[in-house]
Formats: sequence, structure tokens, C-alpha cells
Amino acid sequence: GTGRFIVGGNWKCNGTIASVAELCEGLNAGEIADNVDIVVAPPFLYIDQAVEALDAKRFKVAAQNAWVEYTLQDPTHHYDSDTGAFTGEVSAEMLEDLDVPWVILGHSERRTLLGEDNVTVGKKVAHARYHGLNVIVCVGESLEEREAGKTLEVIFAQLRAVAEEIDDREHSSWGSQVVIAYEPIWAIGTGKVATPEQAQEVHAAIRQWLVDNVSEEVSKATRIQYGGSVNDGNCEDLAKYSDIDGFLVGGASLDAEKFVRICNSSV
Ligand code: G3H
Repeated sequence: GTGRFIVGGNWKCNGTIASVAELCEGLNAGEIADNVDIVVAPPFLYIDQAVEALDAKRFKVAAQNAWVEYTLQDPTHHYDSDTGAFTGEVSAEMLEDLDVPWVILGHSERRTLLGEDNVTVGKKVAHARYHGLNVIVCVGESLEEREAGKTLEVIFAQLRAVAEEIDDREHSSWGSQVVIAYEPIWAIGTGKVATPEQAQEVHAAIRQWLVDNVSEEVSKATRIQYGGSVNDGNCEDLAKYSDIDGFLVGGASLDAEKFVRICNSSV
């Protein structure tokens, strides 16, 4: 692997005041190796509660999305500020204002359920980087795409959109502040984890894509997480592979003990 192991807990749209309190207490009680970065992503409304409750030295927080302003009429125009008349949205600028250091962008649930396309995700990543946020950007293929032999084609198009928008945006950069989460859609929430070989194969291809399309330096510095039905039983086998630098965990991140074991899986 590259750099420090990094494990994300994506709580998705789950939680109550009581369950967030309990989960944070459980996480604080966990013994976790020092050489692991941990990022947990509560729903927006619970970020503040989680920040207050969690041991800040060990646990960083992430938002699960951020708004970006751009119009299809003028897609090249960049806005310094993305606050304004966008009912229901939360901007990268607000995350920066509240010292939320991380944001997950382009999760497949947002791509498929909310229609975020590659360009939108690329703009979001570039804009979040402009505001200094660390980004976990999700890529991954559907079962249909895998079976049609299109896995890498799909993922490379997703990555290309990010690279182009970052290049295009002033004061934006790739660097080690962008983590890529490879999440095959068929493995998310299905209990059907990718085999370590399947994951490693795609991770190695992503790493090579970065060499060819961004730079050798960025390829080395970029951590690539695997996500999709990771649990405390399968994490150690996956963590052994050289290009698997961490995990993005959904369901199992809602259970503090399981999540702590996943955080320790590379040790
Ligand atoms: O962001 C996390 C992934 O979507 C994985 O979810 O661990 O519940 O399969 P899961």
C-alpha cells in the first residue's frame, strides 16, 4: 500500500441523536493503531454532534456530499462561492467554515439515485479542493458493466472527469488530499464482497491510470480504498493486497466494535 491506511465509515442516511451518541462512545472506547487515518461521515445534521462527541485526535469527520454551482449553459465558469439560492443544499464553503475537513463525493447512491453524472462529480471534487477540503471520491461499475467487460472503461471515465475538472480549476489540486474509493456497485450493501484479487486488479489499474494521466507522484501519493460489503470477517484478507490502502465501510461502520476491527485490519 501507499501512505497511511485510511478507513472511512459512511453512515449514509442512518442515525438518531441517541444512536449517534452510542456509536461515538463505542468508537472512543476502541483501541485503534496510531498509523491508521479514520474518517467518519455522519448525515449533515449529526456532524456537529459527532465532532463534539468523538476523540478529535483519532477521528476526523466527513460530509457525505457538497453542492457545487455550475450551469450547463456555461459549464466552464467557476464560482468562488457556491452559496446562494440553492434550496436544500450544503456548500463546500460551509464545510470549510465549520472546519469539516473531509467530504465524500460521487458515491454511487448519489450517482444512481440522484442523477449525479461524471461531470458533476468532477466539478464537486475540484470545487471542494478549491475550498481546501480532503475528498474521498467514489468510483465503480455496475454488475451489468462488469459482465459486459466495461469495468475499467467506466472507472477511467469517472476518473478522467475528476482529473479534467481539477486541471481546469484554479487553486485546485489532486495531491494526497484526494482519496479514491473503488466501490463496485454490485458489492454495496449486498453482502457480496469483491474477492481480494478482483479488488486488487482494479486498484492496480487505477494506480497505473494515475501514472499515465496525472503523474507518477500523484499515483504514489493517492490512497485507494475498497468499499462494498467490507466487514470484520473479510477486511484482513483484503488489506493484505499492496494496492488496497484502506476501506470505505457502510453497514459495518454503524457497529463500533466491527468498525474498530476493520480500522485495525492492516496491522
Ligand atoms: O460507502 C460505503 C459503501 O457504499 C459500502 O457500503 O459496506 O454497506 O456495502 P456497505
